[in-house]
Amino acid sequence: MSNQTFTMIKPDAMRNGHAGAILDKIIKAGFHISALKLTKLTPERAGEFYAIHKERPFYNELVNFMSSGPIIAAILTKKNAVEEFRNLIGATDPAKAAEGTIRKLFAGSVGENAVHGSDSDANAKVEGDFFFTEKERF
Ligand code: RTP
Ligand code: MG
Repeated sequence: MSNQTFTMIKPDAMRNGHAGAILDKIIKAGFHISALKLTKLTPERAGEFYAIHKERPFYNELVNFMSSGPIIAAILTKKNAVEEFRNLIGATDPAKAAEGTIRKLFAGSVGENAVHGSDSDANAKVEGDFFFTEKERF
């Protein structure tokens, strides 16, 4: 069990003005923000980030969406961070997400679901390294 996870506030939540409220929920849930940046993925970088889904039917849609506008990327620290954060964001499909979760509150559809959360300790490390140098972590 690692104490770090990685998140992105996705382009839909940025466009809809939910970034502040989402960060507030993350902080109030007890996560320490260890790294944070406002950035935008090119289609190439979005494709690389989600390469694990390359063969899935929604891959092109996912890459187009994730490169459609600015995102906020962050490394979050808390005990059992990966599982705790997946619980905070809720199910991939917001219609199936539990009450009070970030996706239930702020996401509109399975394709545009407001936030990303790492699904394992190994991926949390790979994804954090994808966005942040050592000097950008605190
Ligand atoms: P994420 O990686 O973004 O945190 O989401 P997740 O683990 O909950 O879901 P995952 O299976 O990893 O899927 C990655 C993202 O692909 C989009 N998706 N669209 N149209 C669809 O059926 C579909 N299924 C997945 C979602 O944006 C999902 O977050
Ligand atoms: Mg995933």
